[in-house]
Amino acid sequence: MSAPIPRGAPETPSRPDDRPPLDPAVLRGEFPLLAANPDFAYLDSAATTQKPGAVLDALDRFYRESNANVHRGLYPLAEKATAAYEGARGEVARFLGALAREVVWTRGTTESINLVAQSWGRASLGPGDAVLLTGMEHHAGLVPWQILAAERGFELRFLPFDARGELELERLEALFEDGRVRLVGVVHGSNVLGTINPVERIAAFAHERGALVLVDAAQTVPHRRVDVRSLGADFLAFSGHKAYGPTGIGVLWAREALLETMPPWQGGGDMILSVRLEKSTWNELPYKFEAGTPDIAGAVGLAAALRWLDSLGRDRIAEAERSLTAYAVGRLAAVEGLRLLGEPDERGPLAAFDLEGVHPHDVAQFLGKEGLAVRSGHHCAQPVHRELGLAASARASFAVHTTRDEIDRLAEALVRCRRYFS
Ligand code: ALA
Repeated sequence: MSAPIPRGAPETPSRPDDRPPLDPAVLRGEFPLLAANPDFAYLDSAATTQKPGAVLDALDRFYRESNANVHRGLYPLAEKATAAYEGARGEVARFLGALAREVVWTRGTTESINLVAQSWGRASLGPGDAVLLTGMEHHAGLVPWQILAAERGFELRFLPFDARGELELERLEALFEDGRVRLVGVVHGSNVLGTINPVERIAAFAHERGALVLVDAAQTVPHRRVDVRSLGADFLAFSGHKAYGPTGIGVLWAREALLETMPPWQGGGDMILSVRLEKSTWNELPYKFEAGTPDIAGAVGLAAALRWLDSLGRDRIAEAERSLTAYAVGRLAAVEGLRLLGEPDERGPLAAFDLEGVHPHDVAQFLGKEGLAVRSGHHCAQPVHRELGLAASARASFAVHTTRDEIDRLAEALVRCRRYFS
């Protein structure tokens, strides 16, 4: 049995936010882990964000006061848990400008994209069809389609990016010319190049030619206003843990009409209406896609994270991070021997780089000893690195708590790092 789900009101249009700019040094204080380690600079928020007290409190409160399974019990505690869980779905819907019945809980962006491939893709794609991906997708945006293409016999095509890290949109016409492209998978914010892709333009182009659009918004939902209707997406995926929420919870949003046509992808409890030994029928949206006991506390924690983001103001967050990122790019570009990967017109809050003569793992280890946490490796984007002629890079990524002082420390440490290894 399923409780009625609130229909998330479309997001209120953006109003000018006349509050003073966000102060990252003050916001640091809201993160217990950072507050307890004043000299630690966490510059790896693109991998996962630290958690504000508001999220930790919501998780703790849920387990202390509301914990029970959802959609199953009729006693008051179970009803309280269900209300918290479905209330969280409504909050996600409001945050994205969507309807609650269009919000499917998953484990994260990767599982969301796999759901689209295994449900919509398996039912819809076959020989003669093509899926168009970009050359800057995260592995999560590539591999599910590779697996399905090998089985279903459709073609994968790729929209390349240029030396600045911008998608070569002028190639779209030729890629669509034979009318075979059924879906475009595009990352909203590249986790290596930093590029914010013009999803609205790509979606308009694809829709005119009858193709659907799947947006990987893992790197943008925490940092800017993401409204599914104005983006023109058909599917959109994001992860809770990159948006100051817990690990293990994420979202697939899809247009209601599409979800209605899609078959379930996993079977089990809660996704059914009725079960006989030989055959079953499916529950209504969105439960059809949610088999088994879900991550109830994760959903509640994610909703708390989204509320916390909204309390700061998403336009204020975007503005503060834009200014911080511009400062970081300037400081890093001035480090001798440092090559930034990508110079996009619009950059999300991260900068991946290659430091001449120093392996990225050595860079990360050197910085780690100085209390600066950056990621090194291929960042789950090997094709991007291959295109740039690199096996790996180092990456600093930023959040609302990142200060200019931390960026200065990073730039100065990189100068010392290069000297140390040369
Ligand atoms: N996708 C995450 C990153 O870019 C893990 O680090």
